[in-house]
This record gives sequence, C-alpha cells and structure tokens, in this order.
Amino acid sequence: MRLAAASPARTLARAALLWSAACAAALAQAPTLSPQALAGRQVFFDVRLSNPQGTSCASCHDARQGWAGNNRSKSGVANGSSPGAFTGRNSPGLAYVGFVPAFHIKKENGKAKAAGGLFWDGRANTLEEQARGPLFAKNEMNLADERELVFRLRSAPYAAELRAAFALADTATDAQWAQAGLSALGAFQRSPEVAPFSSKYDAMLRGEAKLSPAEARGLRLFADTKKGNCIACHAFTPKSKNPADHLFTDFTYDNLGLPRNRAIAATADPKQVDLGLCGPARDKPRGLANNVCGAFRVPSLRNAAQRPFYFHNGSCTDLAEVVRFYVERDTHPEKWYPKDAKGKVALFNDLPKQYLRNVNRDEVPYDRKRGQKPRLDDADIADVVAFIKTLDDGFKP
Ligand code: HEC
Ligand code: HEC
Repeated sequence: MRLAAASPARTLARAALLWSAACAAALAQAPTLSPQALAGRQVFFDVRLSNPQGTSCASCHDARQGWAGNNRSKSGVANGSSPGAFTGRNSPGLAYVGFVPAFHIKKENGKAKAAGGLFWDGRANTLEEQARGPLFAKNEMNLADERELVFRLRSAPYAAELRAAFALADTATDAQWAQAGLSALGAFQRSPEVAPFSSKYDAMLRGEAKLSPAEARGLRLFADTKKGNCIACHAFTPKSKNPADHLFTDFTYDNLGLPRNRAIAATADPKQVDLGLCGPARDKPRGLANNVCGAFRVPSLRNAAQRPFYFHNGSCTDLAEVVRFYVERDTHPEKWYPKDAKGKVALFNDLPKQYLRNVNRDEVPYDRKRGQKPRLDDADIADVVAFIKTLDDGFKP
C-alpha cells in the first residue's frame, strides 16, 4: 500500500498539513467566542483531564454526532476512560444545553409538573455544577479529586489563556482554579459554537430558505395535535421568528415506557432499573408524587438526526425507528417488546410492575389501542424524519 511506504516523518508532516487546513476551514466559519468560551473550548477537548488520559468531554459529546456519542461504545451507554467502565445512561446531545432552565416544579391544570434541570433526571442546576459529575465519576473521566483537576489545569498548554480569561492572580487558590475550569466549560457550552442556530429550519425562520414539500409535510404532522402531536412535549412557538423560541422541548418530563436495552451489561440484573426522577442517580424531588417514577426530561430535537443512540437508555439507533415507536407502541406492541414466560407481550419492560401505570397512555400519539391504525403511516414517518433533519446545524443553501 502506498501509504505504508511513506516515511513516518512525511506521513506526520502530511497529517499536520491536513490538520491545519481543516482548522483554518473550521476557524473561517467559526462564530466569535468570548475569551472565557475559548478557554472552555480547550478544557472541553482536553484528553489530559481523565484517568487514564485519553478521554475528554468531547469523547462522549462529539460535535459531529450532535454533541452526543458514547466514546466508541456500541451498547447505547458510554465508555468511560477506564477499561470496562460504562455510564448508566446514553450521552445526551449538548447542543443548546445552555437554554435548559434550573430544575423547578410548575403547576399545570392544578397538577405539579417537573421541568428543567441538567442530566436526564434534572439533578444538576447549572453547567458549572454539572461538570463536576463527569470529571470525578469513576465510570467517566475518573479524576481523583479537585486537586488533581487543578494540577492538570495549572500545567495545561492553555493555562495562560484560562488565567487571563478568568483574571486568576499568581496567588489564585486551587478553589479559584477549579471554579475557573468549570466556568470555562459553562461558557463554552453556552457559546454560539454549541448553539449556532445555523440549521435549514433557522434559515427558513430568517426567510433565507424554504422547506421541501416532504419537510414541510413533516413539520405539519409534527405539530398536528391529531397526528404526531410531537409539539406537546418537543415544543416550539410557530408564530415566533426568534430561533430561541424553537428549541423543540418544553423541558418537562415524561414516561415513554421504553423497551429495555438488553445490550447494556447492567440490565442482565432484573433488579437494576432506572426510574429517572425517582433515582437511582437522585432522590425524588419534594412535591412530586410516585407517578413521576420512570420519567425523563424531554430532549431538544435540534441535531437529533446526528445522534448515534436515542433515549436515556440508548435503546434505539435509528431516527425513523424512534418515530415509529411513538405511533406503534400501542397499536403493535409485539414489535417493540419481548414475550414473557407465558407468551404474553411484556409491555414497558424497562419498568418494575408498580410503575407500569406511570407510562403516558392518554396523549396523542399514544392514545391508540392494539390493532388500531397508527397515527402516522410509513410515508408520514419518512416526512417527520425529513423535517427533524432540517434541525441539523451547519446548513449550506
Ligand atoms: C464517558 C462519557 C462522558 C464524558 C467523558 C462526559 N459526559 Fe457528559 N454526559 C454523559 C452521560 C451518559 C450523560 C447523562 C447522564 C445522566 O443523565 O445521568 C451526560 C450528561 C451531560 C450533560 C447534561 C445534558 C443535559 O441535557 O441535561 C452535560 C451538560 C454534560 N454531560 C457535559 C459534559 C462535560 C462538560 C464533560 C467534560 C467535563 C462531560 N459531559 C463528559 C457522558 C459523558
Ligand atoms: C408526551 C411527551 C412527548 C411527546 C408527545 C413526544 N415526545 Fe419525543 N421524547 C419525550 C421524552 C420524555 C423523551 C426522552 C425519553 C427517555 O429517554 O426516557 C423523548 C425523546 C425523543 C427522541 C430521542 C432524542 C434523544 O436525544 O434521545 C426523539 C427523536 C423524539 N422524542 C421525537 C419525537 C417525535 C417525532 C414525536 C412525535 C411523533 C415525539 N417525540 C413526541 C417526550 C415526548
């Protein structure tokens, strides 16, 4: 093979050239970032911040995969930095994560409803607080403690940049350095690089592009309260021209009754269940009843088409299948759930029995009965998928 014949030095030089050309191209179209966000970008991509080294935030939140991705894991949950270490959940896409409000409970028709908060279960309120999770978790980046984080930040190639951006004095304490690192990550995740509003849909809002007939049909089905009714949770404000009113989530929680992902090693233990708002990663928030057990936060659908795995348990890898699940879960349950020992379809088999009734079964599109016609047919599903693809950033007319 020709490549193998090239000298290592020449291969390296060529790689460097390609790399700098790619960087120059990226920079040419990159939005201007604040010094804090630029420093945060370096922290976000720093593979020295893990034990063993080699895993950065970007390993599980890859810009090319809608800021999601599972660090090469194929099971639906992410590989941590240590061999054999896995997260308990699928990595969510981080695009527009800066818009997620702090966790709160609102009243809707007199009922308490949870909203906001970071992680699938809303257990962190700010990006700064959130970032402590992955940095120190044994199954993620596995840093020993804050001292180790600060040691690596102080000796990082970008240390001067971080100091300047956060006005760290020579006498800055470890706590101040750690705070600067976390704030930098927050600034980057809130920056226009992670929230560029550069999709075809945004161009359409600005009057610079037109959706194709299939995409426009998909959008109508998505918002039609008798068809997809996706808008009920993946909310947007049709009348507004402001892209920030089109995040395709209302940040509330819902229980979809997903199929159990049997590719995750942990699910071999039937006692291992993930109840979202009811733990195991958090305590059930005060003011909420047990009917929230099994509910997870509604994700934004911006850049969803690029994600390799869907749902908190990574049980689906194909966007069309996700849409089909919504409309066929109740009409053709045998397609989605295995049979139990008695040959009966084990509905909602990722939940313990006492919580089966928490699954949303009243709202369109889940309001159909077995054997009825699904709310969307094959052509409709293809159109909804075409529409969701218009939410991918980086659209070039
Ligand atoms: C090993 C994979 C992995 C690494 C490394 C990782 N994450 Fe994550 N991230 C996840 C998973 C999995 C979740 C969801 C966990 C949960 O909900 O309990 C998550 C959740 C998040 C969330 C919440 C998003 C939302 O919509 O609620 C943010 C923000 C985030 N990560 C940022 C980061 C930052 C910043 C870093 C680097 C310091 C990082 N992650 C490193 C896997 C990873
Ligand atoms: C009643 C609320 C509700 C409705 C209606 C709804 N969704 Fe969702 N959607 C959710 C929640 C909650 C999740 C996350 C569930 C989980 O992982 O446990 C989700 C997840 C998704 C995901 C996976 C995203 C990811 O990053 O993993 C896609 C894609 C999606 N929904 C598309 C749709 C489409 C298309 C429709 C309409 C046919 C729709 N949803 C209707 C609440 C809803």
